[in-house]
Amino acid sequence: MTLDLFTRAESAAAFVLSQTALRPQIGLVLGSGLGAFADDLTDAVRIPYADIPAFPRSTAAGHAGQLVIGKSGDVPVAVMQGRVHLYEGYSAAEVAFPVRVLGRAGIRALILTNAAGGINVEYGQGALVMLRDHINLQGQNPLTGANDERFGPRFPDMTYTYAKRYREIALEEANRLGVSPHVGVYAALAGPSYETPAEIRYLRTIGADLVGMSTVPEAIVARHMGMNILAISCVTNMAAGILDRALVHEEVLEVGRRVMGQFVALLRAVLPRMMEEVKKTG
Ligand code: HPA
Repeated sequence: MTLDLFTRAESAAAFVLSQTALRPQIGLVLGSGLGAFADDLTDAVRIPYADIPAFPRSTAAGHAGQLVIGKSGDVPVAVMQGRVHLYEGYSAAEVAFPVRVLGRAGIRALILTNAAGGINVEYGQGALVMLRDHINLQGQNPLTGANDERFGPRFPDMTYTYAKRYREIALEEANRLGVSPHVGVYAALAGPSYETPAEIRYLRTIGADLVGMSTVPEAIVARHMGMNILAISCVTNMAAGILDRALVHEEVLEVGRRVMGQFVALLRAVLPRMMEEVKKTG
């Protein structure tokens, strides 16, 4: 008998919690080239995705593929070092399954990070952008199929997907660190080919500031389960056709590594303040 999604998420969560005495309420998903934040957590356990029941395994270069549970300062966190994508052949529900597991393991607030192409010409390579909204152009939704009310409602509201309060905290902390942050709208495509210049012009017309191939399935599932979200994009390249040159994945990873110091410092500064918010709102 195949177990239903809820039971699979529940047993994966029980397995994860059996590996540590920590009980994090904040989760993070680290995007391409942004995995280093998980390297210097204290009291850390590292659980390869392959060991977690029903977890999908990442195949993309730049994604380590392990769940790290540890502390950033005093704040316990559950960190996905690497994620899977639609372009690897997974369905949107499979891509978002780890977020289901985090939710069942007690995560209330989720930080989603990604590498993205900059469409808004105010952004430069290496800019950090806090998402205020997204446009789902992946042609898939992780909630397709029967709804399980134990996760959330059939028709979840998406008006407040990216929590304003978390964004304000992130902007304040970025300014304090001397990083000039931006706020923008992320368009998610399925990939894996990068966009054409015409597609980028179209995305700009419909209101997108950034383009990428991730984050949206996880954000939808997190909202379905009532989590609050902070999402941060690192602009690893200007989107196709903005500069007269080709896009290469190695550059995406390289720029991620270059802004890593800033990025890690921002996450470390944001976490204690997010923890206060989680305590306040229960
Ligand atoms: N397009 C889509 N995904 C991306 C890009 C891009 O330009 N850069 C990093 N991820």
